[in-house]
Amino acid sequence: NGQWHQVIDVNELDDGEMIGVEIGERRIAIYKVDGEFYATDNICTHAFAILSDGWLDGDVVECPLHGGCFNVCTGKALGDPVEVDLQTYELRVVDGILEVLCP
Ligand code: FES
Repeated sequence: NGQWHQVIDVNELDDGEMIGVEIGERRIAIYKVDGEFYATDNICTHAFAILSDGWLDGDVVECPLHGGCFNVCTGKALGDPVEVDLQTYELRVVDGILEVLCP
């Protein structure tokens, strides 16, 4: 189930970078960590903030609003003030284009 959506050229992101994309109503953050791409919801689960406006340190993204942290590989909320995990998305690369699977 779900549908694959093309999001970015794989060369658009370097290691340690992230970018926000929109697929319909959905805001998704794409991260590149150690040569691998990961995707999560781009809205913090605590209040309304865009995670890709925050900071990516290794595999942890820090929310720009209250400093909540999430593991970008698993979506796991890493503690105060964030408690609810982020949804993660499956990715694949087709002909150099990164695609996200949206449910
Ligand atoms: Fe992200 Fe509060 S909105 S930590």
